[in-house]
Amino acid sequence: MELLLAEEQFAPVVWECACGEGHLSKVLEAHGYEVISTDIIYRGYGDSEPLDFLKETLEDFEGDIITNPPYKFALEFVQQALNSVKPGRKVAMFLKLQFLEGKARRKFFEENPPKVVYVSSSRLNCAMNGDFEAYPTNTAICYAWFVWEKGYKGDPIIKWIN
Ligand SMILES: C[S@@+](CC[C@H](N)C(=O)[O-])C[C@H]1O[C@@H](n2cnc3c(N)ncnc32)[C@H](O)[C@@H]1O
Repeated sequence: MELLLAEEQFAPVVWECACGEGHLSKVLEAHGYEVISTDIIYRGYGDSEPLDFLKETLEDFEGDIITNPPYKFALEFVQQALNSVKPGRKVAMFLKLQFLEGKARRKFFEENPPKVVYVSSSRLNCAMNGDFEAYPTNTAICYAWFVWEKGYKGDPIIKWIN
């Protein structure tokens, strides 16, 4: 989250729509953003009312959406996020770099190119519920922050971070 915030400015209000225990939300708040934190399962952070992001949205939401969605539903999360923000607003998703591949996603990308893809040059460790003791530290997974600006139709820019 810190790596992305060093590169991108977001709307004053950000929706973390799969907030889990709030690891991303807390960093956003520390950077001065007002964060709406929701999850399909209340995990002790944010709105205690569960919200299934793939089925529900927030009325008249004016801000940006930032999350690291469950990879299995990554495309659905990006689509729903773009449907949930106003034109010109941003959607930032922390995803495996291989999200760039795939026929269904290619069709989606042609209509909805990300504006910037921030590739992590160094390997980042991810751990469910922040439990880094329980997860290997030397995985071969490359992660990237994908940033859409709703309505952007140009070629995506690739930047390298970390
Ligand atoms: C990879 S974790 C993200 C954790 C969190 N962003 C953090 O900073 O620690 C994925 C989260 O997505 C939530 N989730 C899965 N499906 C969802 C859905 N349809 N709507 C909202 N949240 C969902 C899970 O409950 C889980 O907390």
